[in-house]
This record gives sequence, structure tokens and C-alpha cells, in this order.
Amino acid sequence: MIRSVSLFKGLTEGELKSIAKRCVERSFQPGETIVKEGETGVGFYLIADGSVEVRRKGKPISGLKKGDFFGEMTLIDDQPRSADVVAITPTTCYVLVAWAFLGLVRADPDIGMSLMKELVRRLRGTNRSLTE
Ligand code: CMP
Repeated sequence: MIRSVSLFKGLTEGELKSIAKRCVERSFQPGETIVKEGETGVGFYLIADGSVEVRRKGKPISGLKKGDFFGEMTLIDDQPRSADVVAITPTTCYVLVAWAFLGLVRADPDIGMSLMKELVRRLRGTNRSLTE
């Protein structure tokens, strides 16, 4: 599954294995809050299966599915979680703790670039929805 995450495309088999070793698998029921707005956190989540909704003040702002990631914002800027992330279907995530996630980003500029591309894609989406 980790091989299919676009964030990690371009990594070697060895690098993917070393990421997989550092991941912890966690499962969530529909309706379960995985990440809570305003809380501190140390987890970066890759969606291995299922789908989630990102909500701010209870309002949906985005949907994410298998192969997507969330939880990066708090790890990047050390601020509280910017939104709730709630499981919509039974969902399995691979979770990396902050030091492992930040270590990957620091070690590989391609991962940093992929991360930035996705953040820009989300920002464009937010801009579109603000002016629709
Ligand atoms: P974080 O702030 O750590 O926790 C909530 C997560 O929701 C956040 O990281 C992002 O991963 C995700 N998130 C916040 N805003 C958006 C958005 N506009 N589109 C997609 N995902 C988002």
C-alpha cells in the first residue's frame, strides 16, 4: 500500500520498507474522530483503506480516501490540529510519529516537493470554494 502513495513515488524498495517498519496500523469505525480540531498531536496518517471527512467547526471542508494523507499541518508548524478528521467508512490508517515523518521530509527533497504539491492543490481547492 505504501508503494501506491503518491507522496512516496520515486522511493526505492529499501526506503519503502524502512517507512513501513516505522508505521503503526490503526483502524477506525464510521463516525469515529481520528484527529480532533484544536488538540495537539504527533501523528501523520496515510489512509490505507476507507474514507474520511475533514471538518472545521463541524462543517465538511474536504473528503480524503485511500492513498491520501492527513495530519501533516500540526507536524509542520507545531500548531494545534486545524480540523477534525472523521472516518466515514471503516478506515485503516498507517500512522507515522512526528520524528519519523519529519525525518523522511528532511532526508528526501522529492518527498518535501510532493508534500508541497498536495498542500498547494488543497489551497487551490480552498480558494475556489471561497470564491464560488
Ligand atoms: P492537521 O492540522 O494536523 O489536522 C487536521 C488535518 O486535516 C490537517 O492537518 C490536514 O491534514 C487536513 N486538512 C485541513 N484542511 C484541509 C483542507 N482544506 N483540505 C484537505 N485536508 C485538510
